[in-house]
Amino acid sequence: ETTLGAAAAQSGRYFGTAISASKLGESAYTTIANREFNMVTAENEMKIDATEPNRGQFNFTNADRVYNWAVQNGKQVRGHTLAWHSQQPGWMQSLSGSTLRQAMIDHINGVMAHYKGKIYAWDVVNEAYADSGGGRRDSNLQRTGNDWIEVAFRTARTADPAAKLCYNDYNIDNWTWEKTQGVYNMVRDFKSRGVPIDCVGLQAHFNSGSPYNSNFRTTISSFAALGVDVQITELDIQGASPTTYANVVNDCLAVARCTGITTWGVRDSDSWRSGDTPLLFDGSGNKKPAYTSVLNAL
Ligand code: XIL
Repeated sequence: ETTLGAAAAQSGRYFGTAISASKLGESAYTTIANREFNMVTAENEMKIDATEPNRGQFNFTNADRVYNWAVQNGKQVRGHTLAWHSQQPGWMQSLSGSTLRQAMIDHINGVMAHYKGKIYAWDVVNEAYADSGGGRRDSNLQRTGNDWIEVAFRTARTADPAAKLCYNDYNIDNWTWEKTQGVYNMVRDFKSRGVPIDCVGLQAHFNSGSPYNSNFRTTISSFAALGVDVQITELDIQGASPTTYANVVNDCLAVARCTGITTWGVRDSDSWRSGDTPLLFDGSGNKKPAYTSVLNAL
């Protein structure tokens, strides 16, 4: 195969990218994005501050730009993200307790209603675990009560029964880390109690502080064995080692329930960590050695 999306499709998987609405007028960007990828995540446009800038007033202008570009070009869309401590609008940052809990529920209902039946998978909850210790991250949402995550998932299931519902986080790639075990135990608990969860998103932002580890495959297969799909949702690798990129692809392909891979941007110049040159295309849109390595591994 000659593109990432087509190569991934040979095994029934997808290959996606993060897309920014602000770049959709740039043909050098859209040419690569349209050619290579068959799944789209809005890099920022479906986040809470973008979609509900004032409480109860939803704005889908930029989210729809990304969504419509994707669908008009035959791609599926991952929804990112409904409940998160970061990129909250000011009004939400200042809420607490039962008021915030209700605002979270209303937000999930409002956004999921707009896209009902149109989203492959939603990152319902993003980054709720602490970086160390294996427990929850302190946040205004966590302070509403430990059950906020399951409330978010139950709300989401009712709002759009057709969407897969994911928990998404970073630094849960390394099986030996406490954070990974904390999320694993939450998913196991949710499955045992019938809390609706369909997938786990491994962001996979690999760098010197949190590098790729050969136990990544164990992480993927262990989550999958709980009865959830696994998606690699925000892949970027500092320095874009072709070997590491191939390892990530091979680890996903080794697990039937690893359903797809998304890189967090198109070209290095589009990356949130552009100084790391972590993506598959350079700033001029040329295919990097990591691109060929990924294509060959798929
Ligand atoms: C990042 C975007 O890439 C940036 O443009 C933005 O300024 C901050 O957020 N984990 C996530 C993503 O779930 O939403 C983040 O995206 C990167 C880390």
